[in-house]
Amino acid sequence: MAIPDTFLEELKERSDIVDVVGSYVALTKRSGANLFGLCPFHGEKTPSFSVNRDRQIYHCFGCGKGGSVINFIMDIENLSFPDAVQFLARRAGMEVPEDAPDENRSRRSRMLELNRDAARFFHAQLMAGTGRAGQEYVIKRGIVPMVKPFGLGYAPDSWQALTDAMTRKGYTPQELVAAGLARVGKNGGFYDYFRGRLIFPVIDVRGSVIGFSGRILSDGEPKYLNSPDTLVYSKSRSLFALNLAKKSKSGYILLVEGNIDVVSLHQAGFDSAVASLGTSLTADQARLIARYTKQVVICYDSDAAGQKAVQRAIGILQPLDLQVKVVAVPGAKDPDEFIQSSGPAAFRKLIERSDSQIEYRMAQIAGQYDLTDDAGRVRYLQDAARLIASLTGSVEREVYGMRAAEKAGVSKEAFMNEVAHVRKKDAAGAKRQRDREETAPLRAAQPQSRALRYENVRSAVAEEGVVGLVYRFPEMFGALPLTGADFTAPVLGRMFDSLTRRAREERSLSMAALSQEFSPEEMTLLTDIISRGGVSASDAQRAMSDYIEKIQTEKEKAGRADDLRGYAERLKRTKGYGSKDG
Ligand code: GTP
Ligand code: MN
Repeated sequence: MAIPDTFLEELKERSDIVDVVGSYVALTKRSGANLFGLCPFHGEKTPSFSVNRDRQIYHCFGCGKGGSVINFIMDIENLSFPDAVQFLARRAGMEVPEDAPDENRSRRSRMLELNRDAARFFHAQLMAGTGRAGQEYVIKRGIVPMVKPFGLGYAPDSWQALTDAMTRKGYTPQELVAAGLARVGKNGGFYDYFRGRLIFPVIDVRGSVIGFSGRILSDGEPKYLNSPDTLVYSKSRSLFALNLAKKSKSGYILLVEGNIDVVSLHQAGFDSAVASLGTSLTADQARLIARYTKQVVICYDSDAAGQKAVQRAIGILQPLDLQVKVVAVPGAKDPDEFIQSSGPAAFRKLIERSDSQIEYRMAQIAGQYDLTDDAGRVRYLQDAARLIASLTGSVEREVYGMRAAEKAGVSKEAFMNEVAHVRKKDAAGAKRQRDREETAPLRAAQPQSRALRYENVRSAVAEEGVVGLVYRFPEMFGALPLTGADFTAPVLGRMFDSLTRRAREERSLSMAALSQEFSPEEMTLLTDIISRGGVSASDAQRAMSDYIEKIQTEKEKAGRADDLRGYAERLKRTKGYGSKDG
């Protein structure tokens, strides 16, 4: 990146991270040099997103995003580095130096021009006599009306057609290679990357052609060839047809697997269909979706791989507070096949009744059994009851219970009895499990070094937890109503005292610094404790209160009660971090 460092330094100086981030995120809590707010990059209810004014950085303890003010703008505005610099410069009233960044910008805009010319070339081939094979293919797939709106094209089955046409227009073969349109052969010559394929241009939300996806016309391999990532194209940050889907009035984004599915759905009137480009859905793509809608309908392929991908996509979309629904296409391998065989109206019905996730899982269970058969119905009921028993809301249990009962042709009462039975069994099982854990031999929890053996292992395990949390989130637990003297394990007490003192004095918590205070055996124990990781920032508060409660319980057992439990209770009620009302 050829923007001068001196310029970047001044830009950062004039773009205080607290001001910049503050215009996107309400920074409502303060703890030391850190301000906290709700992370804009993942859904959360308690703030784990921190901004440090002194160090001019942000960091989310929940999702791990972090960096400088420029990184923040790249993430939140979905911009490239140069564009983010430009964005901040405009805000700060600064002029980005002309020469260097311009070179980069002009390389980008020239590549976009080349892409557009290539897309025009491919499209013209499909429209002309030379594209007979491509024409036959779009006719066969029944997507002729979509050739124009999608700018579909045909790459001739030739090694040179595109390279020749583009060099005639003044582009160099090297530029074609950089754009992912040509490759360098063994003898140093250049050849077209896309050959004999139906071409889907990938167009970003600003209308630029950023890449291509090419489907083979026959059954050969690979079925799809995609542009590599280039200066202007990042597959994991792009979605096929989002340029069209973003204008949809449907109120949702329809997420499918295949390019053909997208085209076929748009043709059938489902103008919000998009596909991830030959990758499984990425977090960046999910964030992109979240900028345009609150609701996503997933309709992936019916095969096992597709259904597994549905679960993965749900896991990526839900944390962004997107409402996720899932549609299965009965009797078809993918939405395209369903539309072709059953028509748009049938697909619309599927979407309207589109399953919430719980319904989706119920349908999956139903699909496993023959419901015309008594034995099949019994097994279905058992499985469905287990699923519904796991729901926390009683209304939800009623509603879905009724549906499941209807489906299997039994009375709602009989079905809900089964659900109640499962819930009772689950509760009993959970209690047995707790009891088992309580009485299980605690030898495994002892430190490796015999010299450090814990006297009260139950308490020590909680004390280790406290040490681990203080190490990982020093700014969250600056003021706890504990001192090392409250610990049953002296070594853990010393660790706690040292960590909290260092955190207060803003001194280093590095292993190197700590190893001056602790013996090698103790350091082994400490690294063991902190490498367990475990809780995320959003759970840290609750975990801390659980640990303190545990330490308190053990203390009470030992006849040394004090007011720790009160603190644990208060901590549970505290919503934000860094509150020092302990
Ligand atoms: P049809 O089988 O013609 O319906 O095509 P489709 O567009 O529905 O594709 P399919 O369901 O087989 O695959 C879904 C998506 O995965 C495609 O649109 C591509 O983006 C990607 N994909 C499929 N095959 C390949 C491949 O061989 N290589 C790469 N890189 N991506 C592929
Ligand atoms: Mn398909």
